[in-house]
Amino acid sequence: MAETDPSNARDQGSGQDRRTAAVPFRVLQLTDLHLFNAPAQRLLGQDTRRTFELVLARAQARHWPPDIIVLTGDLVHDSGRSAYRILRHRCDALGVPYYCIPGNHDRLDLLVGHLDAGAASAIRVVNAGAWDLLLLDSTIPNEDGGHLSDSVLAGLATHRSAAHGRPTLVFLHHHLQPLGSRWIDTMQVDNGTQALAELARNPRIRAVICGHVHQDAEQHSHGLRLLATPSTCVQFLPGSDDFALDTLTPGYRWLDLYPDGQLETGIERTDAYPDPLTFVSGGY
Ligand SMILES: [Fe+2]
Repeated sequence: MAETDPSNARDQGSGQDRRTAAVPFRVLQLTDLHLFNAPAQRLLGQDTRRTFELVLARAQARHWPPDIIVLTGDLVHDSGRSAYRILRHRCDALGVPYYCIPGNHDRLDLLVGHLDAGAASAIRVVNAGAWDLLLLDSTIPNEDGGHLSDSVLAGLATHRSAAHGRPTLVFLHHHLQPLGSRWIDTMQVDNGTQALAELARNPRIRAVICGHVHQDAEQHSHGLRLLATPSTCVQFLPGSDDFALDTLTPGYRWLDLYPDGQLETGIERTDAYPDPLTFVSGGY
């Protein structure tokens, strides 16, 4: 299990001085960017590079600088090298340490090779002030659904038994239990119940946070707080049996981690889409 401290990351953030007793450690989650190799390509009418820039601009206006940015998968749409390179340059320019985990649209080898070498670890621990962040790879190569491997589950148990008592957030791409939307629930973590049982054994876990479902959601299960976060591009309609788009705008999640273990979190969205949405049935 890899362990990292953002103070050792290649991208030095400007927010290190937040780590005082009264000031929370701030994490921003950006997810499901679906960037394309070709700038002319669109996803359901949207230029995903442009929606990502709008989300970044909103974050820079409202929650800047964070201490860490976590990008939770589907960073690119069509698994291309140039999209990863573009994202690498953009993230480097932000001046904030960032960490990536893969989603079902990602190619792990390209993500590791062009964006974040640390993503090669199926589970890694990132020190976040008084907290730990656990970043899990829930992908199955060439499949849309997710799975937590035996090594990830073993890593969770190892972290649980470590006697340091640090409050913890868990990030992964796929959702662990059904959200009530039939089409996307066929693509959740297939051993979610087993994973939830393991996570529930760790009382220091304050929340388990995913992307993948392109919507803001909160559930409570096994004594755990489960959060999902909107995409930086298009949003899926909650509660829909079949694929359907929501009109809600792109967004991100902010999380303030206090040294006493208190968590404050919320969603922030852009004011509008830059282009009209293309409503289609059947998927994306
Ligand atoms: Fe996605």
